[in-house]
Amino acid sequence: MNATLGMAALLLTGACTSALADETTLRLKDGAEAVTVRAYCSICHSIDYVQMNAPFMKRAQWDAEVHKMVKVMGAPVPDDEVAKIIDYLTRNYGVE
Ligand code: HEC
Repeated sequence: MNATLGMAALLLTGACTSALADETTLRLKDGAEAVTVRAYCSICHSIDYVQMNAPFMKRAQWDAEVHKMVKVMGAPVPDDEVAKIIDYLTRNYGVE
């Protein structure tokens, strides 16, 4: 009994450690822009900032958020990718 519990705890600890250490375990929803979003939006912070904010973001807010990342934070997103990223985020992580 105790040995079984011990095994389970060990396995859980292992799972948590690798989830924290490996950014790629955070999956973005499929879409042509998922690669773009991962590339540009995980330079400064974890991509889970996107997922954390998803439940209450409308298009206008994603629009403002992406522009803020570019203009205020200095995210190196090319102009022609900005709209695509906003579309992707609204479609997959928005409330509209
Ligand atoms: C140049 C660095 C940088 C890049 C690149 C970047 N961000 Fe951020 N982002 C930040 C900083 C700094 C914060 C604020 C962190 C804090 O307040 O704890 C932030 C915070 C956020 C937040 C939390 C809400 C907020 O406004 O604080 C979201 C959502 C977010 N970023 C989304 C994105 C998306 C989407 C992209 C890709 C288009 C992106 N970020 C790229 C620097 C960056």
